[in-house]
Amino acid sequence: MSDDIAKGTTRRGFLSATAAAGGALVAAGAAGAATPDPLIMEKQPWATGLGDGVDAVPYGMPIKFESHVVRRNVSWLTADVISSINFTPIHALDGTITPQGCAFERHHSGAIELSKDDYRLMINGLVETPLVFTYADLERFPRVTHTYFCECAANTGMEWAGSQLNGSQFTHGMIHNMEYTGVTLRTLLQEAGVKPEGKWVFVEGSDASSNGRSIPIEKALNDCLIAFKANGEALRKEHGYPVRLVVPGWEGNMWVKWLRRIEVGDAPWEQREETSKYTDTMADGTSRKWTWVMDAKSVITAPSPQVPITHGPGPVVITGLAWSGRGAIKRVDVTVDGGKTWHEARLASPGQPMALTRFYFDHVWDGTEMLLQSRAIDETGYVQPTKAQLREVRGVNSVYHNNCIQTWWVKASGEAENVEIS
Ligand code: MTE
Ligand code: CO
Repeated sequence: MSDDIAKGTTRRGFLSATAAAGGALVAAGAAGAATPDPLIMEKQPWATGLGDGVDAVPYGMPIKFESHVVRRNVSWLTADVISSINFTPIHALDGTITPQGCAFERHHSGAIELSKDDYRLMINGLVETPLVFTYADLERFPRVTHTYFCECAANTGMEWAGSQLNGSQFTHGMIHNMEYTGVTLRTLLQEAGVKPEGKWVFVEGSDASSNGRSIPIEKALNDCLIAFKANGEALRKEHGYPVRLVVPGWEGNMWVKWLRRIEVGDAPWEQREETSKYTDTMADGTSRKWTWVMDAKSVITAPSPQVPITHGPGPVVITGLAWSGRGAIKRVDVTVDGGKTWHEARLASPGQPMALTRFYFDHVWDGTEMLLQSRAIDETGYVQPTKAQLREVRGVNSVYHNNCIQTWWVKASGEAENVEIS
């Protein structure tokens, strides 16, 4: 909570003063706002006719006034939209749950349409009994529900060499956070009976790319889910309908969609095939791989380039998201002066392991420019690094796993820009 609020003066004083002025808080800064306000004083069209009946839209969509809150892609990033990515509009969302309809998509060979009837999941390899499950079979195993974030390893990847994309949607929007329902991978592996030599699982999807990845058996038996519901309803096609793998805290690439096969092996498939995916190029030109866990990270979602401050000085809610693949977020700090002074932000609710945490910092803006940053600290004590700190270790040639502190320069006009400070 900001010092101003803690002292219990500034905000309350401001609100009561404007309330007495007849709604001036809302109108503040809006040129020529009429007094008295017709929206208060006069009967409006929506109060004189009837609204839609209950069956007008059997499955509801957001009201037209929210039509800008959509996924967007950056056309120059990829050659086509089949093997591509788009971005969650995190700048316009609040709370922590990402609605499926605007959760980022990443496909290597497009989103496929696979029915529950045609769905099969096979477990083979180093198991006592190779098994094939139908969708109906999966529904008969004991079920669990958990909320987790899924972050593409490439999230913030365009920002390594310099600040590039103007908006939290584009710099940090390769992430979503959903409540998943399904069966634990452990349950299915136990059903098949993993042989003692089984040290890895190779997982692949039904799409043309198959997106095969290897996961150590410890992780597979620990907390991975075979999920068929997200946020209470069936997975959307683009998120892997009817079944996807959930690998809590680990890079999104391992969260195989349209999951069709799990092979238990004694070595990672990448070693067998002599390929390796998603390596990180370091400052000295060498590569690091097996970097599966997503380190603690945070970003201020508003104000930000897509969400400028549109009123004058006074109260402004600074808000954002924090997460860690290593556990729960314990604390988030916010600075408005580029890191000279840090303030502890208010967590909307206590951090949950490997799930997005919403933070708020209730600030009274004096109308001068700000350098906004947030800094996440997780339950392991890990502190989100600055861009300079990250570059010292990882250089500027990486794409993946950029978890550095983000800076928004908010000008006196209220507009914000993506910048770098040393
Ligand atoms: N699974 C399959 N079968 N095919 C894919 O192309 N893309 C992966 C992963 N699982 C992919 C896949 C990548 S790189 C990411 S970041 C996540 O899915 C994205 O999941 P989403 O599209 O639900 O956001
Ligand atoms: Co990805």
